[in-house]
Amino acid sequence: MMTNHLARFRALLGDSFVLTDQESLRHYGHDETEDLSYPPDVVLRPGSTEEVSAVLRYCSEHRVPVTPLGARTGLSGGALSIYGGVGLSMERFNRIIEVDELNGQVTTEPAVITQVLQETCAEKGWYYAPDPASRGSCWIGGNIAENSGGPHAVKYGVTKDFVLNLEVVLPTGEIIWTGANTLKNSTGYNLTQLMVGSEGTLGVITKAVLKLIPLPRHQVLMLVPFRSAEKACEAVSAIFRAGITPSALEFMERDAIELAMQWAEGAAMPLEDDVAAHLLIEVDGNHPDALMADCEVIAEVVARYESGEILLAEDQAQKDQLWKLRRKVGEAVKAHSTYKEEDTVVPRYLLPELLRGVKSIGAHYGFHSVCYGHAGDGNLHVNILRGDLDEETWNHRLPVAIRELFRLVVSLGGTLSGEHGIGLVQKDYMDIAFNSFQLNLMREIKRVFDPFGILNPGKIFPDMKPASELTGHEK
Ligand code: LAC
Ligand code: ZN
Repeated sequence: MMTNHLARFRALLGDSFVLTDQESLRHYGHDETEDLSYPPDVVLRPGSTEEVSAVLRYCSEHRVPVTPLGARTGLSGGALSIYGGVGLSMERFNRIIEVDELNGQVTTEPAVITQVLQETCAEKGWYYAPDPASRGSCWIGGNIAENSGGPHAVKYGVTKDFVLNLEVVLPTGEIIWTGANTLKNSTGYNLTQLMVGSEGTLGVITKAVLKLIPLPRHQVLMLVPFRSAEKACEAVSAIFRAGITPSALEFMERDAIELAMQWAEGAAMPLEDDVAAHLLIEVDGNHPDALMADCEVIAEVVARYESGEILLAEDQAQKDQLWKLRRKVGEAVKAHSTYKEEDTVVPRYLLPELLRGVKSIGAHYGFHSVCYGHAGDGNLHVNILRGDLDEETWNHRLPVAIRELFRLVVSLGGTLSGEHGIGLVQKDYMDIAFNSFQLNLMREIKRVFDPFGILNPGKIFPDMKPASELTGHEK
């Protein structure tokens, strides 16, 4: 990084908010994606929207790459500073500004932990539903950038369904609000939703106004074992067709359950020898009797798919344990083996076909996968384990297998990512989901927002380079 850039950043932010020591650069240089590490040249920690604006304006003028950094819990490499430059950490934007109890809205800064936001709203009787598995550590700003989902999306929707309005700093330094604090809005193009899921490539979110819904008072949680994983997947759409919308409907293969139990000490669930998979099914609402009636319908449906004995969680402690195991699967797989994560999603009824396809592609190419995820949304996390695959297979044969997997997903009417984003690690597959005309439309949008290509360069698009590379920017 050129010393005149650093001097400028120190003058803008103050010395203590400009980090250049190796340890910090390493620390801010990874997220939760595989074991990837791309340290920025400098970490900046602005404290106000105006400071973010000043930094971005300067970086646009001088063609310095900027990668926005949240909690770095992402799974697609969106927060990796692959061209170095500035890592723009939003960590000082950590205040919940206001819970508007009259309208059911919350205004927050981006670096608030999602679970903290949920609990703060819940204390006032309001529910912010999107709950990625990492909700105890991820930030709301990153959730918006990736359009995160989580188990409760199946009834309440994903992050996009809760975002009403955003304060955003554009790469050239302008500060805008994208919409209005209203539940309905048919006024012009929807800039709010364009920002949601844009993976830090179009602007930096500095405030968000989110919708809240009344907090459901009761949940009933059931764990349903199946001898066949495909049968478990077949039961999923049948539950909805029987007239029930569960508040969560999660699928876990046997391997996922076993790994989670090894990893999350003290948490266990029953797992008979002949069980191939579980569905974890929750219904919520205000009237326990109605919920029990829903559970009876669900029990009748799953019985048609050869389910085993259903466990109804007895108390909050047991519910917490089951949820803990489910939320720990990703971490458990990661701790067990090097792996690649594919975030496949298809129309719900086609989930069994997807699972069959994953296993048959795996058998053909010789890889083992652990599958789990948000079955009610047709969203299957396919974790491909490195195991004892050699270098050649892992680096060259596996991408061919993954292409085949994504081609299957798209042929089923699905797409590459349900909730983790494209970022760095999925961008080479974008041509499977979009033709060049569609990709060019997206590139043109990117150019309007970011004419110099400085913001989160090298993400989403297979071939987009930052301006600094083109002009020989000196590090
Ligand atoms: C989960 C994360 C990996 O569902 O999305 O556990
Ligand atoms: Zn997930």
